[in-house]
Amino acid sequence: MSMPRIALIPGDGIGREVVAEAEKVLRALRLDLELVRWPHGADHFLKTGVSITDAEVAELEREYDAILLGALGDSRVPSNVHARDILLGLRFQLDLYINFRPVRLLDGRLTPLRDKKETDIDFVIFRENTEGVYVGMGGTFKRGTPDEVAIQEDVNTRKGVERIIRAAFEFARAQEIPRITLSDKANAMEHAGGLWRRTFAEVGTEYPEIEPEALYVDMLAMDLVRRPERYRVIVTGNLFGDILSDLGAQLAGGLGLAASANVHPGRTSLFEPVHGSAPDIAGRGIANPFGAILSSALMLGHLGFPDEQERVEIAVRRAVQAREATPDLGGSLSTAAAGQAVCRYLSEGALSP
Ligand SMILES: NC(=O)c1ccc[n+]([C@@H]2O[C@H](COP(=O)([O-])OP(=O)(O)OC[C@H]3O[C@@H](n4cnc5c(N)ncnc54)[C@H](O)[C@@H]3O)[C@@H](O)[C@H]2O)c1
Repeated sequence: MSMPRIALIPGDGIGREVVAEAEKVLRALRLDLELVRWPHGADHFLKTGVSITDAEVAELEREYDAILLGALGDSRVPSNVHARDILLGLRFQLDLYINFRPVRLLDGRLTPLRDKKETDIDFVIFRENTEGVYVGMGGTFKRGTPDEVAIQEDVNTRKGVERIIRAAFEFARAQEIPRITLSDKANAMEHAGGLWRRTFAEVGTEYPEIEPEALYVDMLAMDLVRRPERYRVIVTGNLFGDILSDLGAQLAGGLGLAASANVHPGRTSLFEPVHGSAPDIAGRGIANPFGAILSSALMLGHLGFPDEQERVEIAVRRAVQAREATPDLGGSLSTAAAGQAVCRYLSEGALSP
């Protein structure tokens, strides 16, 4: 492979602060990576009137291997149109159908659950990322009157459902995980649920070593709090995945640590921390950079650097356990010092998990 080319889109607010630290870590690895900064975000939008053009998206698709994004959201753009254009635009136009959200407890002290240790909270969510209720189909009728009607369609295609289910099974097979959980609401939403369940059962026959189970999403939400240790791979639709992964983020120590990948295997994919631009703390140098750094680790895995991915993940774990972290994790470091701590653990080898 030629030298991977990565677009860094720090975006708004703390997005800029945390991507700077992820960039530091990537550079500390001394890999042959080309890192190119893109200016897109609220400032760029206010200056040029452009969020992101179709030509720029096409350039990202053609000339880049991955995108590392910080966060988008700024009160000077009340409609948030720039964030929607960039985030949803990239997800839909690059057809990034896998939203991969790992939930892993790095330090037992960080979970709000009583008596749960690190190995008890270690699962991944495969969230369908291009369909469901987020496609924007629907409309309103008699808007603003007492008779107003609002319709938001839930779009599920066989192709879309099958490819995310298959991705989850492939992951479970590669990791030798014995069970996979489908989550839906097939009792109340029988048409969509039926398609998901039939497809899940059919695809599952190709993976006889993996036990498939299907759970209603309300039941799963409850059980993730009660006994998270039961779950390793969860596959679900766009809306339920959105909600379950935020629940997961809190189980594992909060938003500042949560990483995500938006992937279409073999194509330019997008990696981003789960949190937003956090205007309440932006500019104060206290944002937790670990979610962004862990997102860059997911990116390294996607680019074919699994050893480096693991090294970064171990270095973050060491920093978290040593409380060399920002205040949200009980530390007293600044954003930059927390990033520096990860670089130090990297340079020390940080081999023991
Ligand atoms: N993917 C994205 O770019 C994305 C995601 C969510 C929200 N947003 C946007 O971000 C803006 C703020 O949204 P919000 O306040 O609902 O969510 P947020 O994630 O920005 O912040 C929620 C809370 O968590 C804290 N927090 C978030 N990230 C943190 C970090 N790394 N370190 C320490 N504390 C952290 C914040 O201080 C805040 O109190 C809005 O404009 C929203 O639309 C963007």
